[in-house]
Amino acid sequence: MLILGIESSCDETAAAVVEDGRRVLSNNIASQVPIHQRYGGVVPEIASRAHLEQIVQIVEGALSGARVALSDINAIAVTRGPGLIGCLLVGVEFAKGLAAARGIPLLSVQHIAGHLYSPFIGREHDAWGVPVTDRAPAFEPYIGLAVSGGHSSMALVRGPLAYEPLGETLDDAVGEAYDKIAKHIGLGYPGGPIVDRLAAQGNPRAFAFPRPLLNRDDLDFSFSGLKSSFAREVEKLGGPDAIQGNGKVIADLCASFQAACIDVMVGKCARALKQHRLSRLAVVGGVACNRGLRAALATRMKNIAVALPEPEFCTDNAAMIAGVGHHVHASGAHSDATMNAKVGLELTASAKGWQQAAPTPGAGAS
Ligand code: KG4
Ligand code: ZN
Repeated sequence: MLILGIESSCDETAAAVVEDGRRVLSNNIASQVPIHQRYGGVVPEIASRAHLEQIVQIVEGALSGARVALSDINAIAVTRGPGLIGCLLVGVEFAKGLAAARGIPLLSVQHIAGHLYSPFIGREHDAWGVPVTDRAPAFEPYIGLAVSGGHSSMALVRGPLAYEPLGETLDDAVGEAYDKIAKHIGLGYPGGPIVDRLAAQGNPRAFAFPRPLLNRDDLDFSFSGLKSSFAREVEKLGGPDAIQGNGKVIADLCASFQAACIDVMVGKCARALKQHRLSRLAVVGGVACNRGLRAALATRMKNIAVALPEPEFCTDNAAMIAGVGHHVHASGAHSDATMNAKVGLELTASAKGWQQAAPTPGAGAS
């Protein structure tokens, strides 16, 4: 079973071909980072236009990279939401057209469900270390932490289409906080990888940043206050201009900020594992590339099987969308040409296809 996945929810135009829901034959991505870099963040109108310009060649590249023809594809999976509406529409409408032209099923996938499934895909092995040619890995429930520029969500994953939301950020996503504090002190965009690199050279105890909501029993997050205390600390040092060129202070600020983020993420994961008596954890999304976080998970998670996808499957990609699409297809939840993009699509929508409800006979317009 070959599924073509299409992803365009934010600033990556991506297409991929995945076999049997696990084996990645191609993973083609056009990143818009260079386009948005000069604005210090994603500009929605520019992003949707760039998706339009890129999508044909990205899909063609995914097919040729997998050495397959469009006629070999059995179904098309696309990110329906959440995301930026102008961006989602490009992928959704393109997928609809392609599926209709080929007469093959159209599958709707929720973006965070894609991230939470990303440990199961790979070129040879998945992130649990199981060969991807092993078609039916025993599916044991795990705690999934999806952390990126758009989301910070904790979920209990019971099966490829069975997600139970456990917690969510109440304000900024963690990647967004990284990007904003980096922008504040002029480090460039996206800030996450830059802060991560500088943090390795700094003292994580130099500044005492708060660990928001860490002492609360729930599994929600908040990163906006942490971002503000970072800005206050920079003000005490004389403001962003005053610290330019002071490599030691910048590295210490980055290391201290990163230590706070890591303590919160690792602490909340530990709490979720304990509350649900589970010993499997997957950390996914762009922030899962963070070297400090990976090191902390390795040392602090005792007797826990931790899955960290390869970086190419952590940041936005279409292979994870095709992977979930395989299970949507197997469940029979196909979508039709009336499927629409949805900005705030819930995680629990993953198990459903999307078909317009048939009009009730005799019901008048109301
Ligand atoms: O998953 P992704 O590509 O897109 C979203 O769905 O948002 O994640 C991008 C986010 C950005 O905020 C970026 O700064 C962050 O992931 N990121 C990192 C690292 N690499 C990417 N954050 C912290 N450390 C990193 N090494
Ligand atoms: Zn994402």
